[in-house]
Formats: sequence, C-alpha cells, structure tokens
Amino acid sequence: MPITMVQDGVFGDTGKGKLAHVLSAPEYCDVAVRAVGGGNAGHVIVEDTRKVALHVLPAGCLYEETKTLLGRGMVTHIPTLFSDAAAIQKEFGVDPLKNLHIANGNHILFDAHKKADAILEKRKGKEAVGTTGSGIGPAYADKALRMGMRFEELMVRNGASKEVVMDRIKVRFRKLLQHWFDLYGIEYSSTEEDQQLQDLLQAQEILEGKIVNTHEFWERQEAANEMDVMIEGAQGTELSVDEDYPYVTASPTSVLGHLQGSGLPLRELKKVIMTAKAYTTRVGGGPFPTRMDEPLRSIIQKKGGEMGSTTGRLRDTGWLHAKRLGKRGHQESADEFAILKGDIFDDLGPVKLAIADNQSGQPVYEEHEGWSGTNGVRVFSDLHLNSRKYHARIQEITGIPVRYIGTGRDKKDLIIVPN
Ligand code: IMP
Repeated sequence: MPITMVQDGVFGDTGKGKLAHVLSAPEYCDVAVRAVGGGNAGHVIVEDTRKVALHVLPAGCLYEETKTLLGRGMVTHIPTLFSDAAAIQKEFGVDPLKNLHIANGNHILFDAHKKADAILEKRKGKEAVGTTGSGIGPAYADKALRMGMRFEELMVRNGASKEVVMDRIKVRFRKLLQHWFDLYGIEYSSTEEDQQLQDLLQAQEILEGKIVNTHEFWERQEAANEMDVMIEGAQGTELSVDEDYPYVTASPTSVLGHLQGSGLPLRELKKVIMTAKAYTTRVGGGPFPTRMDEPLRSIIQKKGGEMGSTTGRLRDTGWLHAKRLGKRGHQESADEFAILKGDIFDDLGPVKLAIADNQSGQPVYEEHEGWSGTNGVRVFSDLHLNSRKYHARIQEITGIPVRYIGTGRDKKDLIIVPN
C-alpha cells in the first residue's frame, strides 16, 4: 500500500498540480486524493496546448482510469466541483465524474460560507487575514460547531425513499439558513432560498452514487490490491492552521493533516515529495521577510505568472529561504524536493538564497551567479551549470535531495535529477 504525498513546503502555489498530474497517471496510481481545504486551492495543469485550473478536483481526474477521492478533510463547494469538471471535460475531453468518489465525511461548503467569509474579513478590519474569499474558515467553523452538512446527508441509506431524503435535506438546509442568520446576519430572499435548495437537490441526484463511506472505500481498495495512492497536497505547510496563526488557512495542511483528511493509515505513507519554487510567493496577510526589491519583484511576478488562479490577486514575490524550507522538510518527513520554476530566473542576473536568519530574525543571503536558457530543458546534463549549482546548494543546506527540477509550464518540463 505505497502512499505518495505531494506536499507544498511553503505558502502554496508551488506547482503541486503539475507533479500530481504526472504521478496520478494510471501506470503509477490507483487512487488520487484531495484531502483538505476546498476551492481556495488553484492547481494549474498544462499539457501541450491544453490548460486547466482546478480548485476542488485533483489532477487525477484528468485520467478516466484513475479513481479519485475528495476526502473527509475537505469542505467542498458543489458548483465549483461542477465547474472544475466542465473545464476538464472541455479541455481534455474526459469525464472527471466517471471515477469520482466523495467521502461521506466531506463537508458541503455553501454560498453562505463565502458571504460569511467576506463579513468576517470586514469585521476584522486591519487584522483581516486576506483570505481567498472561498468560505473556507466559516465552513470549517460549522464543522467544528457540529452544525456542518456532510455529503453523507445526500446519501440514500437504509432503504429510505427518495422523498424522505429530499425532505430531510430541506429541513436541514432551512436550519442552516437560520444558523447563518443568527451568526452573521445573512438573509436570502425566498426566491434565492428556493434556488439554492433546488441546486442542492439537483446535486443530490448527480452525486448520490459517488458518495462513499471512507473506511469501507479503503477496505475495498485494499481487498482488490489497488492501493497505489497519491495524495495531492492543498495549500502549503506554512499555511497550516497551527503555523503562522492567524495568517493561515483553516485546515491542517501538514502531511499528517492530509492523512487524517484522507482516512489513510500513517504507517503506509512511503514517500513525501515536497514542492517549492526556486523563489517564494505569498498572498494574503502575514510577514514575508525574504520579499524581493523592485524592479525584480514585479518582473518575476509577471514572468512567473504569479497571479492567484482562484482570486486573480497578484502574489507577493521573494527569495527562497533554504534554511526554513529544510526545517519544514524535516518537520514534514520529506524524502525529496521538487524545486520548480527556476527557469523564471533565466537572464535575470544573480540569484539570492537565504541560508540562515540573523539575531534579529532577518534572512542572511548568499548570492549565486545567474543562468540562462533553462526554460524547457528536460535533461539534467543540459541544464545551465549555475542552475545546477543553485539546486545542489538547496540540497546541501536542507539535507534533503532535490529529485525534480521544473523548467517550464508543461508537465513534461520536469527533470528527474540523477542520483
Ligand atoms: P483561506 O484559506 O481562503 O481562508 O485563506 C487564508 C490564507 O491562506 C490567505 O492568506 C490565503 O491567501 C492563503 N491561501 C489559501 N489557499 C491558498 C492557496 O491555495 N495558495 C496560496 N495561498 C492560499
């Protein structure tokens, strides 16, 4: 039962989608899992001329033969699930719902959660977190309050008639409307309420047969000896709820959080591939000590396409902090690194790498000679010597092997570093 996990070592947006796309191909993977978070994620996948940005569906959905699971640690906005599915169908001509499974414990994220997210951010004023506005915090709050509605409630169980299930959903939804009014003052007109309920009932029709009991799902997989599992990480280690609080997301985005969210046993985790970019980006609030100076900051932002695929916000840009990445790597039991987007530094001059912090907590840098012509290189020996030296230095400082180097947007622009 070899479980592989792709874990972002920084603040998200490091190119997990690309690696997950490669690793969830049916020759390597029986089940591809998204385990935590929701539509706050934005995994962009590019293959030849085709491109898709996924928010709740894992990259495994691009292969009809790979089973996919939206784990019980997620909060899932159903219209986003459907729009991800439509985008895949349009670009890649496959039906991502065909082999999709949704854990019974996965929580439904409603439009009201998005409204509540905006209300809370406004109430916080200057202390706003800078969320993606996807309703993540309020959906997890309902989960913690034991008020949340899980996908399980859309299942037809114990021979109940469809009418009974539909009536049950209606009663639950009306209770939730009252709850959101009490907490946040959210009000809907009766037409809006009816529309939302209709959408929910329609979703029930489409998704009901895809909802599975988490434990039984894994037991069946094990019995069939189909347990090559790839967990596609969401957000990043630094955004985990227990890290730089409150400038974090609302779920545990650590490796352990993902295992909990998938329902898989820790003992079976065989490999953690930690992703980072050759530089760092951050969106939302919170400190960012390795922030670059202008004009390089804006140049990287533009050349690297550093704009949120969920929010359209520009990402702030800084140098990579190798020491900190190493600490996160060890904390998360990373076996190897995938360092992506080093090609963005092509022709931009010297590259700085933070290797420590001084006594006042400010990063200490070393400077590396720049490189050129690395975009699209697919063989390690063809990579510019300075780029090879830079990646070797990351390996030296972190003590964790750099196994993959990304050199472009296409999934094939990925070098496997020889041992
Ligand atoms: P939330 O997850 O929308 O509540 O946002 C909380 C913080 O996490 C904000 O700083 C967001 O910008 C950040 N965040 C959440 N998801 C992602 C992601 O997928 N990539 C990068 N930042 C994210």
